[in-house]
Amino acid sequence: IRSILGRPDGGAGLAGQKVQISGWVKKGREQGKGKFAFLEVNDGSCAANLQVKVDASVSDLSKLVTTGTSLTIDGCLKIPPQGKATKQKIELSAEKVIDVGTVDQHGKTPYPIPKTKLTLEYLRDHTNFRARTTTMAAVTRIRHKICLAAHVFCDKHDICYIHTPIITTSDCEGAGEMFQVTTLINQSEKLEKDLVKNIELTEAEETLAKVEDRSKLKPGLLLPRKDGKIDYSQDFFARQAYLTVSGQLHAETYACSMGDVYTFGPTFRAEKSHTSRHLAEFWMVEVELAFAGVEEAMNCAEALVKDICKYLLEKCLDDMELMKNVDEACIDRLQMVALTSFERVTYTKAITLLEEAVAKGKKFENPVELGLDLASDHERYLTEVLYKKPVIVYNYPKKIKAFYMRLNDDGETVAAFDVLVPKVGELIGGSQREERMDVLMERMEEKRLPIKEYEWYIDLRRHGTVKHSGFGLGLERMLLFATGMDNIRDVIPFPRYPGRADL
Ligand code: 4AD
Ligand code: MG
Repeated sequence: IRSILGRPDGGAGLAGQKVQISGWVKKGREQGKGKFAFLEVNDGSCAANLQVKVDASVSDLSKLVTTGTSLTIDGCLKIPPQGKATKQKIELSAEKVIDVGTVDQHGKTPYPIPKTKLTLEYLRDHTNFRARTTTMAAVTRIRHKICLAAHVFCDKHDICYIHTPIITTSDCEGAGEMFQVTTLINQSEKLEKDLVKNIELTEAEETLAKVEDRSKLKPGLLLPRKDGKIDYSQDFFARQAYLTVSGQLHAETYACSMGDVYTFGPTFRAEKSHTSRHLAEFWMVEVELAFAGVEEAMNCAEALVKDICKYLLEKCLDDMELMKNVDEACIDRLQMVALTSFERVTYTKAITLLEEAVAKGKKFENPVELGLDLASDHERYLTEVLYKKPVIVYNYPKKIKAFYMRLNDDGETVAAFDVLVPKVGELIGGSQREERMDVLMERMEEKRLPIKEYEWYIDLRRHGTVKHSGFGLGLERMLLFATGMDNIRDVIPFPRYPGRADL
């Protein structure tokens, strides 16, 4: 349908051509006392619907007109009669209905996406159908383009795409907010599985299995759970594994071998954040630059954001136009970011600026204090009120940042930076990495991290260490910024957050 309606002439030049289309009925109505029907059909390729006229002689119209019905139709494109109140430059006159998937109107679960306007909260409970709405479909196409833009940017700069693991034993951020991987098998299957062939529960273990507080049990013990399943995850991987919070550490190993690399995949955080900017599963573009300092990483991060904005303006302006219904300023914001250089301020300066605002009567939800992290209302004040453009805050106190960030000469701050943007706040987090082995280990000790478990990472400093820097851009935060959507749960097809992992 995009190839018809997306043409500069709105499809008019295709009049007389025979085509086959497939899609879903958005709206349908029988007219002329049941002699014919008009259907507005959408196939997801663009926001616009193709109007289809079906004569009663072609098909049983009552089967076609219900919203949600799927169709494949052969027909001929025609210019709609003059004077009709239609915006369409072309419509399809159906010649044959090839396939119909009807909507069950009388069953227990009615089709949840009627013609009426629906709230985003309501749609969140119907994620299996929510992409059938105009807004969600547009957001999804924009998401696709942002992913492409990131790949195009990296390819243009000779940054090599690598895949980092999703299952890992390393806590990249050292914050302990990880989901544990468990492997469950049914007790009855236990003996059949090679991996656990030789394992049988001893009497002692059986007794222990009845213990209520499992945290008191010896790690690695194979125990049936209350549902009769056995968790043998520690045996599978030989130790406890988790879902990754970031691919950075693994990306560093490749950067420290191959030069500039990036990884782009799902990451997981077990933080109980019920905010409109946090997900338990989100996607991140993580760039790692070898022989590069923090300044180069900041430049690269800024260039990436600008390129994504330009790409969207170039490649999906029609969907962006549609997003203006959600946030009128979204296109202006993309244009502004594409063309303006980002402000850069140190963390200390940012705190001073916020303190000045407080002194002038500005009220923030969170306290402004040297040594504390910036909260999202602080970030939005800097980007929306003070500078009215993206701001890169750098040189944060080491206490509030991760162990791998390079210690500055002052011994108190690290070469870390966050890219903050209007509407969203933090979009990117990055840093120069600590390449000095002794300093790195000192920092890990300070943060009480189990050094033994990071030996493979420390090895990179032991053998051919090199200055390197990188950053991670949250894909869904970029989408919030671009589309103007308010809630991060509405810019990912299947959001995961506290209380929601089904569907
Ligand atoms: O600042 P973060 O935690 O940085 C890292 O994970 C680094 N290891 C990245 C790197 O240097 N390679 O996360 C990076 C970005 C944030 O700026 C934010 O955009 C996004 O990831 N992000 C989240 N997005 C949605 N939900 C969450 N819970 C997020 N946590 C971080
Ligand atoms: Mg961060």
